[in-house]
Amino acid sequence: MDLPSLYSKIGKNSWKILGAIFRNLWNYKYVPLNVISDSAKINEEKTRRILKALGDEGIVLNKFTEYEGATLTFAGLSLYSLHLLAESGQVKAIGKKMGEGKESLVYNCISKQGEAVIKFHKLGYQSFKKVVEKRDYGNLNFLVLSIRSAKREFSALRRLRGLAVPEAYAWEGNAVLMQLIDAKELFKVRVDNPEELLDSILEEVAKFYRRGVVHGDLSPFNVLVNESGFWIIDFPQSLEVGEDNWKEILLRDLENLLKYFSRTYRIERDMNSAIEKIISDRGN
Ligand SMILES: Nc1ncnc2c1ncn2[C@@H]1O[C@H](COP(=O)(O)OP(=O)(O)OP(=O)(O)O)[C@@H](O)[C@H]1O
Ligand SMILES: [Mg+2]
Repeated sequence: MDLPSLYSKIGKNSWKILGAIFRNLWNYKYVPLNVISDSAKINEEKTRRILKALGDEGIVLNKFTEYEGATLTFAGLSLYSLHLLAESGQVKAIGKKMGEGKESLVYNCISKQGEAVIKFHKLGYQSFKKVVEKRDYGNLNFLVLSIRSAKREFSALRRLRGLAVPEAYAWEGNAVLMQLIDAKELFKVRVDNPEELLDSILEEVAKFYRRGVVHGDLSPFNVLVNESGFWIIDFPQSLEVGEDNWKEILLRDLENLLKYFSRTYRIERDMNSAIEKIISDRGN
């Protein structure tokens, strides 16, 4: 999927149609043609023609049985979210694809603040594809889940502002616009000061906790490092202290981290004292 080249092909009326589907995603698996047409203020015949073209580009998914309707694909949702960021002046230009995780697509961009990244969330997309092959299930689940996941990440990053996380600039649909971090994933590098780094990460996790946030997917894949420091990324799984299972999840995060440092650098830390230190720090 090449978002920039798809983006440049979309005309004014197509954006209106995509907007009409987007606004109605929460109410329908497939948004009925007449609802799209009304909401976009474009007559049904023209709406149908545009939907067909967008379907050919893989931006929407049309349905003709039972009733005529359409929904967005992951590309469609991402394009429309990008459009919202561009319309509000947050994003000036989209650049190259930087990475494709199992649950996201990350692009370079130029934002109001300068160089930045956009993370497009695609939660549940993989498993959803399998479901679609089996039965006509619609893709409401994956769209709504992806949007929620982006929202969750944005809220967590906002709460953790000023700590060792990318600064979050904006959120629209499944897209989170954030600071570009020029660093490598911890698992890809061999650091010379592992003890010090581990201590600093643990201190940061304690600071997160004091702001009421548990990461939920802490691993050497989600820590970026360079000569000047480290950043913790990837917060869609994060939860608030007090939410169901928060303590188990905090323990799991610590376990992942300690295991990695033990395996890779032979640094042994006691799990109980690590957790005690974090939890007893609250409010200090
Ligand atoms: N702010 C950022 N600056 C620079 N690179 C980033 C930034 N955010 C993400 N990346 C890059 O994109 C990759 C994927 O991002 P991230 O870890 O947030 O999502 P993910 O791994 O797909 O999510 P999940 O772990 O939920 O599947 C990262 O490993 C990193 O290389
Ligand atoms: Mg990740």
